[in-house]
Parts: sequence; C-alpha cells; structure tokens
Amino acid sequence: MNQDFKFPQIENCLAENGVFLITDICEEGKGAAIANTYFLQTDTGNYVIDPACGKRRLQQIKARLPFKEYDVLLTHSHLDHSANSGAAVFFNSQVICHPLVAGKINNLQRNYTDVTAKMVREFGVHGFFGRTGMLGPTMIKLLRWIQKQSPAIFDRLLHAVSLILCCIKVGSIYPPTRNVTFLSMDQLADLCFENSFFRGWAIREDLFALETPGHQDDHLSFYVPGRKLMFAGDLISFLNPNDILDGSLKETHTWMKKMLQLAEAGGINILAVSHSLPIVGKDQVIAYLRSVIDKQEEAFNTIAEIIASCPDKSDFDGIMAKVYSHDSELIKKILKINYPRSISFIDVYVYLYLKEYCREGMESRTNQ
Ligand SMILES: [Fe+2]
Repeated sequence: MNQDFKFPQIENCLAENGVFLITDICEEGKGAAIANTYFLQTDTGNYVIDPACGKRRLQQIKARLPFKEYDVLLTHSHLDHSANSGAAVFFNSQVICHPLVAGKINNLQRNYTDVTAKMVREFGVHGFFGRTGMLGPTMIKLLRWIQKQSPAIFDRLLHAVSLILCCIKVGSIYPPTRNVTFLSMDQLADLCFENSFFRGWAIREDLFALETPGHQDDHLSFYVPGRKLMFAGDLISFLNPNDILDGSLKETHTWMKKMLQLAEAGGINILAVSHSLPIVGKDQVIAYLRSVIDKQEEAFNTIAEIIASCPDKSDFDGIMAKVYSHDSELIKKILKINYPRSISFIDVYVYLYLKEYCREGMESRTNQ
C-alpha cells in the first residue's frame, strides 16, 4: 500500500498491527518538520491520526487511504498536526480532539500569530529577532523605533509578518467545520493500564485517548492496549515543550515518565511518535524513552544551574546571554538545533523554567 516503502522492517511490523505510516522522514535516525500521519485499523474502527499540513501530505493521504470510512484523531492542535484536519475528512468522519481545542479551532493560526506576538513581547525585539540572527541590527533598530512610535502599528505589522510566515511554512489551514467531537471534561475518566494511571476517554472499547499535556495543554496520546500500541504525538521529544503559550515543563516531565512507566511494565510494543520513525519492540521503546528522558533531565539540570547562578531572575536577556555562552557540549548542541534564523527552543525552555520554577522572577518581569 505504501508506494514509498522506505523502511520495510518497521512498516511490516506496523502493518501487522493495523498501522500504516506516511512520513517525510527519508533516513533512519533523522526527523522531519511535518508530523507523521498514521492510519489505524482496529476491530471497531478506522482512523487517520494527525493529517498534518500541506497540499502534498493531503494528496498522499487521499492516495493511500486503506479504508473508505474513518474518523480523524488529533494528538494536539499545533498546525503541523492539525492544519489539514478539515480537508482530510470523509463526509461522515468525526474529528476527535481534546476539549481545549474547542477554544482554538477557529483560530488555529494562533500557533504562529499569537505565539510570535507573545514571544516578541516576552523576549523583546532584540531577543526574538536578534539573538537568533533572524534580523540584522538596522532592521532591529527600525522595528524598535516603530514599536516605540506606535505599538498598535507594530502589533499589526507583527501579525501580518507571522501570517506570511505561517503561509510559507504551513500552507493552507483547513479547520474542520462540522462533525468535530471535542471530548468532554465531564466524561474524563481514571484509566489504568499495567498499573500505570492515566486520565482520559474510551473512544471505543479497544482505543483510548489519554491526557498527556506538557508539549501543549490540549495534547492527547492514543492507546490501543490490546496491541500495546501508543501514538504519543509530540510528547516524547528532546527540549520539550516548545510552546510558550500552552506548554509546561512540569507536565512534560510527568507524562514522559508515565509513558516510561507503562513501557517498563510491558504496556508499549510500538511507540508511534510524530517527528521520528516509530520505535518498534518493547526493549527498544524503553531504551528510547530512557534516552530522551535522560537528555531532557541533563538539559533541565544545566539550565537550572545557569539560572541559579544569575542573581536577577527577572533579567531574561542576562540569563539568555549566560545560556548562549555556556561552555557545555549539551548547550552547544542545543544551539545548533534551530539556528540560524529561527527562534530557538532553548529560549522557550528557559522562559518556561522561570515561569514554573522561579515565580518571583516572572512576577517582577510582569511588573516592569
Ligand atoms: Fe507540536
């Protein structure tokens, strides 16, 4: 079925479990910016998980669908997972997502426009555009001048620029206009698999949506316990979260560890993640989860150490200067992830650390 059968071993194993993969990843060990799309066939239903974004992905989904009737499951509302959701539906399909997506569904581009505005507000013009080398000193000077002369014009300019960026990076956005099922907070239930406790919803008797916030507050993982199959979206990735509006370090750590606990108890044989290839095999899943968690903890401890050495927790620029010039191999590696010309995830990570672990620093920032 997969015309580009690129990873036969993985894809055969997925197929044995009713899973089919569409991915932009070309090489093992590499990632892709656009989320993977998974097709899932269970005994009780068919699903398209994360229709992603872009015209090409939409064509691939339509060309390779192994079923005629299906529902669409969204792990979260980030555009690289959700932008195609309205266009990937069959007329009877339900688009199933977290209750918090309800407040965002008509403004999915907020992930660019609102996030950019918030980052510029929090990091400052120089912090956002300068630290990453996105703009040169003359442009930064000009933007600062506009911001000073007319904050309203500056905000509109920023909104327009982020919309253009969104168009370039994501393409068209198709929010689902009908048949959307927002899971209900009232029906959120305690769930237990292999002695690991989650909160979530039974989509069918063999498929569960688990609340796994952290990467984003509306993040779900989809679990098929009978096949030990976990679709973990963006929960398991290094330097997570990267969402300044809806991300949380504490939640990320909690739910990553919860996934490891379930895997160690023998509950996950296939870990289907969004920006890398799925991990196949119980031992491989455990090793993968441990390595991501270890790296995340190393980053956390390094950032904690740097911040502890800064007397003024409200001086974000000063803290970031220390982070950027830090000597460790880890920070050097981190700084390469998203550079140049793109806001580094490390800025967001430090910002969230200050917000969640150094409240007094954030409070004095807000009062400035
Ligand atoms: Fe995401």
